[in-house]
Amino acid sequence: MKIAVLPGDGIGPEIVAQASKVLQALSKDGLKIEMEQAPIGGAGYDASGDPLPAATLKLAQDADAVLLGAVGGWQYDTLPRPMRPEQGLLRIRKELNLFANLRPALLYPELADASTLKPEVVSGLDIMIVRELTGDIYFGQPRGIHTLANGEREGYNTMRYSESEIRRIGHVAFGIASKRNRKVCSVDKANVLETTELWRQVMIEIAKDYPDVELSHMYVDNAAMQLVRAPKQFDVIVTGNIFGDILSDEASMLTGSIGMLPSASLDSNNKGMYEPSHGSAPDIAGKNIANPLATILSAAMMLRYTFNDETTAQRIENAVKKVLANGLRTADIFVAGTQKVSCSEMGDAVVAAL
Ligand code: IPM
Ligand code: MG
Repeated sequence: MKIAVLPGDGIGPEIVAQASKVLQALSKDGLKIEMEQAPIGGAGYDASGDPLPAATLKLAQDADAVLLGAVGGWQYDTLPRPMRPEQGLLRIRKELNLFANLRPALLYPELADASTLKPEVVSGLDIMIVRELTGDIYFGQPRGIHTLANGEREGYNTMRYSESEIRRIGHVAFGIASKRNRKVCSVDKANVLETTELWRQVMIEIAKDYPDVELSHMYVDNAAMQLVRAPKQFDVIVTGNIFGDILSDEASMLTGSIGMLPSASLDSNNKGMYEPSHGSAPDIAGKNIANPLATILSAAMMLRYTFNDETTAQRIENAVKKVLANGLRTADIFVAGTQKVSCSEMGDAVVAAL
């Protein structure tokens, strides 16, 4: 199994190093993997003037799975848009056709106190957000900034979804729900936006193929509210690219820290790119204080979804649970009475717990 390792920017290299350590430990134990690194994002721009260098894309295309850190940094914010780190990420998602983004929001019991919400609201939380990742207003044409006849500038983007794009993400969500608590909540803004009116219609059609899964619908504003009011009502949430971007950040804080949340982005053959749900955190980059658990848990998702190795996936997840139960915490999830550790110490502890 070939894994393309793309550390990226900011805390990316630090957290990816920890997940690589975990994979290396497993490979000593007999897991057959090969890892090769390449730059992406700002690192790609620095190396070859492109946030997605051709060699990096080729490596990712040839690999069975991709492990990614994070992209972005203030020093790149003034570059022309196509050269910015985020474009490297959006392009690799599009090039590899990674349309299904799975973002679990799972609360580890040990971290109930780290959430800003009351423990009784979040304890036992287990939500899977299924975000469409290669369509919507993120990619819709036309887009741009132009000057109107009156000399004023206008910015515009286009929200669009074809039926087939909605259908394929819907099937992913229903498929996942049928192995969980059999509830899908489709989030849209069908009261205002035609794109999502179609989204809702297609979801209703798909539901007929899954008679034992219950489908409900929620407007995105209400969903944002319900996620903090009573998040445990959700099992699987399926939504478009932009709503999923926003709601998945919100859901992550229910679990204590965005530093805990892994993600998988899959194509229709379960080839995938695995990355933490959080960003490059340039403010703490290079300080060895970032939380590597989201990246380590992303490696577990890689084993589960691309390599079909549930046993090893659970072995990683259990190791993470064990270090949390032993009281180890990085700064983002630290509370009095626990032991604060660095990024690399957390990685070492997970390896030891394996
Ligand atoms: C995410 C990020 C990206 C997105 C950015 C960095 C382009 O916020 O993965 O959620 O908006 O998809
Ligand atoms: Mg985001």
